Amino acid sequence: MKVAVLHGPNLNLLGQREPDIYGKDTLQDINDMLSKEAEKLGIELETYQSNSEGDLVTAIQEKGQWADVLIINPAAYTHTSIALGDAVAAVGVKTIEVHLSNIHAREEFRSTSFVAPVAVGQISGFGINSYRLALLAASEL
Ligand code: DQA
Repeated sequence: MKVAVLHGPNLNLLGQREPDIYGKDTLQDINDMLSKEAEKLGIELETYQSNSEGDLVTAIQEKGQWADVLIINPAAYTHTSIALGDAVAAVGVKTIEVHLSNIHAREEFRSTSFVAPVAVGQISGFGINSYRLALLAASEL
């Protein structure tokens, strides 16, 4: 099984970025954890981060052709990007949306997701474990 994990804008700053909300783990820590978990589950894993909406659309298109399941934290584009939702729908790949923080317990604008309606499901609020749970869910899809 192949899984691609896509990280959206500002997630490259994890570790130093609002650690009270997003935790102290860096993006590298998250990717390392995912690599170890993927190995245990027999999953072939690729990870990718971009701050650019267009690059993420291209990544959904390209990695979505390769992967059996996409895991995506669209970060702020979750709440604004029709293009990311359209890309997931266009590729038709099973997609799991992930957030470190509980987006439904924060500012109201964060409760809106343009990806969730075309995703299999959303995991939100468990910090780094949101990704771990998403990988486990992907392995069972
Ligand atoms: C986030 C939540 C988003 O609202 C925010 O814009 C992010 C990170 C999360 O993982 O909790 O950048 O996706």
